[in-house]
Amino acid sequence: MKSLVVYYSRTGTTKKIAQAIARNLGGDIEEIIDKKDRRGPTNYLIAGKDAATKRLTEIDDTKKDISSYDIVVIGTPVWAFTMAPAIRTFITRHKESLKNIAFFCTQGGAGSKRTFKDMEELCGKRPVEVLEATTKEVMKDMFKQKISEFIERLSNK
Ligand SMILES: Cc1cc2nc3c(=O)[nH]c(=O)nc-3n(C[C@H](O)[C@H](O)[C@H](O)COP(=O)(O)O)c2cc1C
Repeated sequence: MKSLVVYYSRTGTTKKIAQAIARNLGGDIEEIIDKKDRRGPTNYLIAGKDAATKRLTEIDDTKKDISSYDIVVIGTPVWAFTMAPAIRTFITRHKESLKNIAFFCTQGGAGSKRTFKDMEELCGKRPVEVLEATTKEVMKDMFKQKISEFIERLSNK
């Protein structure tokens, strides 16, 4: 099964999980780049507002051909209880090309459920599996077990 992990990460937490999933799945990986500057405290507030109001953003074109993958695993940080605008834009742009999907997210404390629900609605199909982790779990490298279980569940589908 040909797999691709796509993710957006502002500060590296979601990236760490994305890399571990791709390594364990033995598939490809692609980072989604938001062209809008998200650094600094003012941009943090704007980022939260953009996410909460479901705004799209400008992202770089993906290098990989999304339609050539049997499964695309999509990862986002939780922003204002939903997905980051870069992932909203990616899904909006590519949803017709997505065959099977799985989701993962990282969060400070809360919002993964609503985030996955919003992603499912936007994709127009159910994810075969989901995985959520807190920023703390990722920082302390306490996510390996979750990844193995996620991969095992994915492989059994
Ligand atoms: C604009 C913004 C909004 C956020 N909103 C939430 C939230 O609603 N719930 C939550 O648990 N964490 C929230 N966070 C924290 C991030 O989800 C968390 O730190 C995540 O692991 C960051 O991932 P990254 O390092 O890949 O960017 C928010 C962070 C940002 C920048």
